[in-house]
Amino acid sequence: MHPMLNVAVKAARRAATIINRASLNLERLQIDRKQHNDFVTEVDKAAEEVIIETLSEAYPNHGFLAEESGELLNNSDHIWIIDPLDGTTNFIHGFPQYAISIALSVNGVLQQAVIYDPNRDELFSASKGGGAYVDRRRLRVADQIKLENALIGTGFPYRQDQDVDQYLKIFADMTRQCAGLRRPGAASLDLAYVAAGRYDGFFESELKPWDMAAGTLIITEAGGLVGNYRGEEGFLESGEIMAGNPRIFAQMAQVLGKYSRQSA
Ligand code: IPD
Ligand code: CA
Ligand code: CA
Repeated sequence: MHPMLNVAVKAARRAATIINRASLNLERLQIDRKQHNDFVTEVDKAAEEVIIETLSEAYPNHGFLAEESGELLNNSDHIWIIDPLDGTTNFIHGFPQYAISIALSVNGVLQQAVIYDPNRDELFSASKGGGAYVDRRRLRVADQIKLENALIGTGFPYRQDQDVDQYLKIFADMTRQCAGLRRPGAASLDLAYVAAGRYDGFFESELKPWDMAAGTLIITEAGGLVGNYRGEEGFLESGEIMAGNPRIFAQMAQVLGKYSRQSA
């Protein structure tokens, strides 16, 4: 394992210890509201702290882009992109679908990625050029060739500032053309599941870089494609993301392309 990936795995496991301990005592959890339906807990913050501490002990000159602390770029070309707890709403409710997501970008290129699911004890990882893994098992995207037989993951709007009406149009269109849509509630795991072939594809908009960065590398290393709704670059900045094996990706773009809001 690449030494930087190794440190990221250590950081993710330390965060998981904090998350697991807190999950045994959810009624004592202190919950704050960032905005309507957007929650953060002391657990998100403590998990992020231990991740940043672990990484900066090993790499004191690296920078960070982390959900709860924002940008601490440190003038470095090595930036760790961190979601300490992806799926906070699930976590608060004891719904066992959430994860820790950590990626390393070097000069804007994703190089290392870890997504750890503490409920199933599954560790998804990838190093650029080295393939993608769940634990020690090599990952490969699904070989599904027809959208009509595909199981597709998605995420739908839940904050007040989001466009539910636009999503409902997309939902109606996509649900008629695939075998099933799922919305488990942790984007990082949704992406890991595309890499693992558990879904044939995934789409969501208004995501943040820390929701997508690790999953993006894990999917491409598993032979999948990631882009915006038209299948193009720029999704890490726009937050509009679509992923799948190459055949499903192309068919999803036929459906989703007309709804793209990413400017060309
Ligand atoms: C959220 C989850 C969810 C997605 C939201 C994200 P958070 O992350 O990934 O699946 O639909 O857009 O914000 O806030 O729980 O880290
Ligand atoms: Ca997230
Ligand atoms: Ca989060």
